[in-house]
Amino acid sequence: MNFLRFDSEIAWINGIVSFWRDRLRTDPRLRICLPSGNTPIKIYATMAQSVQAGQVSFRDAEIFALDDYGGLGADDAGKCVNLLRRYLIDLIDLPKERFHFIHTDEPDLDGICRDYDKRIGSGFDLTLLGIGLNGHLGLNEPGSSPDSTTRRVEMHAPTIAASAGYLQHSHLPTWGVGVGLAQLLGSREVWLLANGARKAEIIRRAMKEEITADVPASLLRRHPASYLFVDAEAGALL
Ligand code: PGA
Repeated sequence: MNFLRFDSEIAWINGIVSFWRDRLRTDPRLRICLPSGNTPIKIYATMAQSVQAGQVSFRDAEIFALDDYGGLGADDAGKCVNLLRRYLIDLIDLPKERFHFIHTDEPDLDGICRDYDKRIGSGFDLTLLGIGLNGHLGLNEPGSSPDSTTRRVEMHAPTIAASAGYLQHSHLPTWGVGVGLAQLLGSREVWLLANGARKAEIIRRAMKEEITADVPASLLRRHPASYLFVDAEAGALL
């Protein structure tokens, strides 16, 4: 695992976006898996500015949403697809048909999962991930199999509690559908992103303690091209 630690949040954002622009310029057809959550919001805003300034383009790229909640209305602002649209997709030049997301409100979820895996096909070139306070990656909660593919997941209590921060109402989701560890660990490059003091302890556990499915983020240490991007606060215990 490669460690990249930045002195401030702004340096962390600019560092990640600079690496990302570089990857896109090298491979304009990049197939990218992206998370929602609070962690990437400012990164997406800065990337959108780069696109608007003509520094880089998503014209030939492809973006896959990492996961989404079930049981919320399609227009719910807290749904991952809507967050991604709001902060990135609607602000960049990605052709609409090159944005893939998970239709969690369809009745045939098994079919939806199979179709998503088929679209992912040969896999992602680049995957960006946040980390949950319990070490989860997307909806791969502690104990998830490293072989898991896209599937319905019952969310663990800390993940349900965290969802309240993205919603404008108190009806919290209890399940969702997420890309599995097989595809995340199979991505050509994986970047784990963390900022702020509240992430310092789980980053320490994931990077310094045993590599175990009980802390899914620790599995990234076995990946040949994984990068940890932390600001000074999230990296304080490394
Ligand atoms: P956050 O969530 O980016 O809002 O901290 C990360 C996660 O739970 O995966």
